[in-house]
Amino acid sequence: MTKPLFLMLSASLLVFATEDTSKAQRDKAMTALYMKNGCSACHGIYAEGIGTTPKLMGRRADILKERLKDLKRGKTRSAFGTVMISFAKALSDDEIDQMAQYLSELKKVPPKETYELLPDEDDGTS
Ligand code: HEC
Repeated sequence: MTKPLFLMLSASLLVFATEDTSKAQRDKAMTALYMKNGCSACHGIYAEGIGTTPKLMGRRADILKERLKDLKRGKTRSAFGTVMISFAKALSDDEIDQMAQYLSELKKVPPKETYELLPDEDDGTS
């Protein structure tokens, strides 16, 4: 009796461990892709959004995924949306799935450093 139970437990632990590892690997790959493809330049290093460029962190994965697919087909929803088309086209369908999931799981509240990166009001820059 104890042996099958032990085997069952180890099997389920293995499943959890594998899920954790693959999530960690996906996060690592998606962070690298996000920085390498220049997404951060427009959406911010935390995907927090800059100006009119939409925030992506913590948004629904299914919506992000549909929006990326639309953009890949050239369908935009704002006057400046066309700048995004080539970046969406550079992603494979699998990368779109993973990127949407990754972005949706990012923390909704930007870390404190985000604000520290904003210029001071009167530091002489515009
Ligand atoms: C040159 C600036 C720029 C870069 C670089 C860029 N984006 Fe975008 N992105 C935009 C703009 C502008 C929009 C709004 C598109 C629209 O209006 O349809 C957008 C929209 C999106 C959306 C849909 C969000 C929404 O609310 O509609 C996702 C998801 C997205 N970008 C992900 C990415 C990823 C991932 C990368 C890197 C591979 C990236 N973007 C690179 C400017 C950029």
